[in-house]
Amino acid sequence: MNNRYGRLAALVYDLDKPVGRVFGKEIEFYRSRLSECRGRILEPGVGTGRLLIPLLEAGLPVEGFDASEDMLERCRTSCRKHGLSPRLELMRFQDFAYEYKFDAIIMPLGTFQLIGDFAEALLVLRRFHDHLLPGGRLIVDLDPLSDFFGDSAGVRSWPTEDGDLITLQAQQASIDHVAQRKVSHLRYERWRDSRLIETQLEVFTLRWWGVNEFALVLKAAGFGDIVISGSHEHGRVPTCEDWMITFEGQRS
Ligand SMILES: C[S@@+](CC[C@H](N)C(=O)[O-])C[C@H]1O[C@@H](n2cnc3c(N)ncnc32)[C@H](O)[C@@H]1O
Repeated sequence: MNNRYGRLAALVYDLDKPVGRVFGKEIEFYRSRLSECRGRILEPGVGTGRLLIPLLEAGLPVEGFDASEDMLERCRTSCRKHGLSPRLELMRFQDFAYEYKFDAIIMPLGTFQLIGDFAEALLVLRRFHDHLLPGGRLIVDLDPLSDFFGDSAGVRSWPTEDGDLITLQAQQASIDHVAQRKVSHLRYERWRDSRLIETQLEVFTLRWWGVNEFALVLKAAGFGDIVISGSHEHGRVPTCEDWMITFEGQRS
């Protein structure tokens, strides 16, 4: 299975991007864009709660779902530590369902790119659209193209609390310039006293999007009033220098 975010991957996510680790103006941006929401807010692919928890602490009624039980378990534990109890569900982008609709749906940090197929991505956007109240907004962050073609070779490592070392080696397995999809093999290893005690291979698929392509697919899914912003500065037209490109669209 692709993009599993299994046990070691979830541990590394927490070590590398702990709860509250935000990038650039991410938190100010989301707080300000969501400040007028009166109803519920959904974060699909909520992960460990890295952004969910600061948003809940800012008083925003956010809830989430994720396809990885390991990521969700970390999210539940962190929420408990922070005295928070949002609704968290084990569901997938492709077939999630709620009995109510949302004022906003947010997808920070390039999570939407984990949907590796165009047709599937369009169906997911339609599902988001159907889960929004009239006037509700979808906010999606996409990584710039430079992130896909940069040099991602090398080994990264993180010490754990109990003295182990986790290493991560990423290797490009395939690239499809027509489907706009890159598949990498992420090899996670856990070492104790110089001995390998646990290993995990994640097959990691990402799809890249052109800026205008994504605006068009949002329109095809039924969204209007689309605003595209660079590095979380709402309304500022993105440039090549931006580390993140954000799309906001409204359900009419
Ligand atoms: C990059 S992490 C982002 C986590 C969190 N939103 C954040 O900003 O830190 C992507 C998350 O999407 C989840 N995910 C991947 N594929 C999914 C799918 N098909 N349905 C639901 N969640 C999925 C992963 O398990 C992971 O927790």
